[in-house]
Amino acid sequence: MSTVYLNGEYLPKDRATISVDDRGFLLSDGIYEVTSAYRGRLFRMEQHMCRLRKGLDALRIEYDLAELPEMHASLIAANTLDVEDVAIVYLQITRGAAPRTHHFPPEGTPPTVYAFAQVCHRPESARWERGYEAITVPDRRWARVDIKSISLLPNVLAQQAAVDQGVSDALLVRDGVALEGSHNNVFAVFDGVVTTHPATHQILQGVAREYVIELAREQGIQVEERPVSLEEMRAADEIFFTGTTTEVRPTVRLDDQPVGSGKVGPVAKALYGAFKAGTQA
Ligand code: PDD
Repeated sequence: MSTVYLNGEYLPKDRATISVDDRGFLLSDGIYEVTSAYRGRLFRMEQHMCRLRKGLDALRIEYDLAELPEMHASLIAANTLDVEDVAIVYLQITRGAAPRTHHFPPEGTPPTVYAFAQVCHRPESARWERGYEAITVPDRRWARVDIKSISLLPNVLAQQAAVDQGVSDALLVRDGVALEGSHNNVFAVFDGVVTTHPATHQILQGVAREYVIELAREQGIQVEERPVSLEEMRAADEIFFTGTTTEVRPTVRLDDQPVGSGKVGPVAKALYGAFKAGTQA
């Protein structure tokens, strides 16, 4: 039985219960984070907490984050996940439990804070080197997807469309622009230039995205943050997705057409190598 965190307590998962009045359950009125830990070391915790702070402020949920880094470390330890190469901590904060209204609950309603940790498996290198497939799906999300809201219905439907077609990723497209994946950011490579959508309200500003941009620059690879049309995407030399659970995942077929050479490209390989090395450092 795994140990989870709920509202200040560590307890066995089957004893963690929340109210049916919880606004997360009734209204998707909440926010989440997913943070990785490599051999027990939390990765870029500060960046995750910074994004969470911004999200909570945007939603006007009052909550002090000061104890969260320690809570993450305790959950990893309590579940003996510090021996694993990769683990993740999922954290969710909702506006708490109160009789259902569309407007905010009475002042002083405590937010519900829940977290669990679990192992995360990296693909075998032979699998990664074969590359992955993706499909394109219309982006039907709201206008503030930079907020990591728990309201993920369009993402769920997009990823299910990918699963239904037997592929790994769903590339969300709006007004002809390839924005990001259902649960990851997307990059394309054109003549050695690594290109990704700028960090606007139209994408989630991924922690892995930022890290990959840094790694590319460190390697002397030029990076451009600009909208990339789907048409351009189809002509890219390479495409890859990035994210906390995705790390760097190369796409070799998009909508059943080969991407570039149809093989995993050198830029994705170099960046995945650097990514893994960075998480071991
Ligand atoms: N998803 N874009 C979307 C829509 C996401 O849901 C995520 C993360 C990302 C990548 O963000 P980061 O690099 O900070 O993980 C981009 C998480 C992992 C999830 O929903 O499980």
